[in-house]
Amino acid sequence: MERLDKRLANTGRWSRKEARELIRAGRVAVDGAPCRAPEHKVDESDPVAVDGAAIAGPGPVYLMMNKPAGVVSSTGEPGARTVLDLLGEEYQNLGLFPAGRLDKDTEGLLLLTNDGPLAHRLLAPKSHVDKVYYVEVDGILDESDVEAVRAGVALADGYVCLPGELELLSGRQARITLREGKYHQVKRMLASRGKPVVFLKRVRFGPLVLDENLPKGGWRVLTGEEQQSLFRQ
Ligand code: URA
Repeated sequence: MERLDKRLANTGRWSRKEARELIRAGRVAVDGAPCRAPEHKVDESDPVAVDGAAIAGPGPVYLMMNKPAGVVSSTGEPGARTVLDLLGEEYQNLGLFPAGRLDKDTEGLLLLTNDGPLAHRLLAPKSHVDKVYYVEVDGILDESDVEAVRAGVALADGYVCLPGELELLSGRQARITLREGKYHQVKRMLASRGKPVVFLKRVRFGPLVLDENLPKGGWRVLTGEEQQSLFRQ
């Protein structure tokens, strides 16, 4: 048994606060009868409807997070603080996982979802989804680095990266666009140019642009337009 407001919030469609407001406004029915008590207990099999429309079990949820440095984006590292720990209580049991990884010290845009097929498609190597990073290096970037990234940087292990784009913002700062997502890729690319990364932040993932209003560690549900843009990707 769980509270009615929690049952609504678990769908990912409403926050717990919004769910309470809907219930108090008399828009929620349990077993066909309006119920205005957020604390009313329901079980899995009780039919719940909002504005007359039955709610299904938890549907797919899509969140954008501005990952801070210091938390890991993998979900299975024992003892480590993960991006899931930053989510609200109502998002803890929805099966969310990060679609793609950022290193512990990397900041910026992370998509969290429980839509396995979509994540799988976005992350498949053949999808070539653009990822854009703001990067700061120890060293001075120049046109030879721009050319090297455009041609495909050879990493220390011999792997030759797909062509990318490096846009110089100053000697030490740049934006880099990659169409693949190998382990530590930006760091390894720039290390092989002798210019180690000292700061890295993802600012775009496919059609999603990091919402600069999100504080570090902040997150929000994707807008309908953002969700649709992922399906068009
Ligand atoms: N490239 C890296 O080196 N680290 C990241 O976190 C992402 C891309």
